[in-house]
Amino acid sequence: MDTSFYTSFQPQLTGDGSDTLYSAEYGETFHSTFGAVTETEHVFLSGTGIKQRLAEGQSARVLEVGFGTGLNFWVTAQYSLATGARLEYVALEKYLLPAATLTQLNHDHLPAVAQDIRLAFLDWRSGLPDPLPGSQLHWCYDDSIRLDLVVGDATSVSIPPQDYHAIYQDAFSPGNNPELWTPSFFTRLFEVLTPGGRLATYSVKGEVRRNLAAAGFQVQKQPGPPGKREILTAIKPTPRP
Ligand SMILES: C[S@@+](CC[C@H](N)C(=O)[O-])C[C@H]1O[C@@H](n2cnc3c(N)ncnc32)[C@H](O)[C@@H]1O
Repeated sequence: MDTSFYTSFQPQLTGDGSDTLYSAEYGETFHSTFGAVTETEHVFLSGTGIKQRLAEGQSARVLEVGFGTGLNFWVTAQYSLATGARLEYVALEKYLLPAATLTQLNHDHLPAVAQDIRLAFLDWRSGLPDPLPGSQLHWCYDDSIRLDLVVGDATSVSIPPQDYHAIYQDAFSPGNNPELWTPSFFTRLFEVLTPGGRLATYSVKGEVRRNLAAAGFQVQKQPGPPGKREILTAIKPTPRP
């Protein structure tokens, strides 16, 4: 792995008081500058229905495209701990950020439970060498939460086929990260999503909607969080009896 890549990341404060990272490599931030945690809650947790599922005490399997800072993971995991519902979270990530970069981000305003999970993860991450592409790393928290990190290019790594209830499509924007928005990549995501499961993403570009539809998804625009008029949810239809 090219660790010099990491030097181009800078912490950046967002509109709701939470930090995100700016990547000079991609020329954009990891989250909305209007609010990183607000975007996570609105687009991914609510957009896929995972927040409600966990609040009802149902176990959940989530696939994330782009683990990045881990923010989407801590915020999801706290809802699992609130009810004891089991969470299996698989994240695809090309460049697993080192603990030294992640500790620079201020997430003091997160609920204490999410902060505890984050600190435990950072402790684990700081003891790990940078993983080789193709590695799969496993981490567990409190019996009910399991994280599998699949390191490498998401277009070519093997995605654990788990019948996911939700997919967080959180790549950088289609213009800067085009390989993760193609019909063929969306077809791979469609195949591992359970019928009735939902993918959510912040991009509503026409090309994204067309590529998701070409892969078989039923695509819908939804109201967005502050600073973003609309977001997308894409459902895998249940087969007719
Ligand atoms: C917008 S950021 C994700 C933010 C993240 N979900 C979070 O909560 O911090 C996009 C992520 O996709 C990763 N990425 C970009 N291209 C990739 C690829 N081809 N395969 C896997 N990961 C990729 C980047 O390294 C980055 O971490």
